[in-house]
Amino acid sequence: MSTKKENVFILDHPLIKHKISLLRDKNTGTNEFRKLIEEISLLMGYEALKDIPLTDVEMETPIETCTTPVMACPKPAIVPILRAGLGMVSGLLALVPTAKVGHIGLYRDEFTHLPQEYYCKLPKPIEERTILVVDPMLATGGSACDAIDKIKASGGKTIKFMSIIAAPEGLEKLTSAHPDIQVYVGQLDRCLNENAYICPGLGDAGDRIFGTI
Ligand code: PRP
Ligand code: URA
Repeated sequence: MSTKKENVFILDHPLIKHKISLLRDKNTGTNEFRKLIEEISLLMGYEALKDIPLTDVEMETPIETCTTPVMACPKPAIVPILRAGLGMVSGLLALVPTAKVGHIGLYRDEFTHLPQEYYCKLPKPIEERTILVVDPMLATGGSACDAIDKIKASGGKTIKFMSIIAAPEGLEKLTSAHPDIQVYVGQLDRCLNENAYICPGLGDAGDRIFGTI
């Protein structure tokens, strides 16, 4: 893993790089695209959750009793930004099956590119959980910033954000607005185009996951 700036982790595992390249291919169909998003999320989640709290418990092995660490309660919360973030949930639940799942519904206005909120439901007690906010694309950063504003306003404190592809513009906006959160990125791309799409990117992540192109 390479760290570009405190709290920002650009992952450099070759498997993540390989799978992101396959995601970019415009000929990758819906089924394969979904599977790749799931696999990349699992690989990235392993890294993003490396500091979740543990607690010691007494366990009886077939040999003797020992003190050994397990995940502390309350368990982490995974919070996808709808729609595209939903594609990342199954991979993360494979990693942490006991995680709770919240949802934040946002879509970008076609013309202003500003996020419009339409849904929010977070697992309680949100203030005590490690919260992993996920969205495959960090473009202008508007959606990620709004989602994290909302989570903080609801009491969330330990927040991480994970995106598969980020634009420098969005990463800068997010880290300036929320310097206290950890940000995990699979690949940092070149820039945004005039429609605020990431270049080279992978197109519209939600449309490719759900086959609504
Ligand atoms: C996409 C993507 C992010 C957002 C990123 O969602 O999944 O949520 O755009 O752009 P930003 O960083 O400029 O805010 P979109 O608004 O297309 O909605 P969808 O997931 O429902 O397709
Ligand atoms: N949302 C996407 O799905 N893709 C982009 O490139 C930018 C925003």
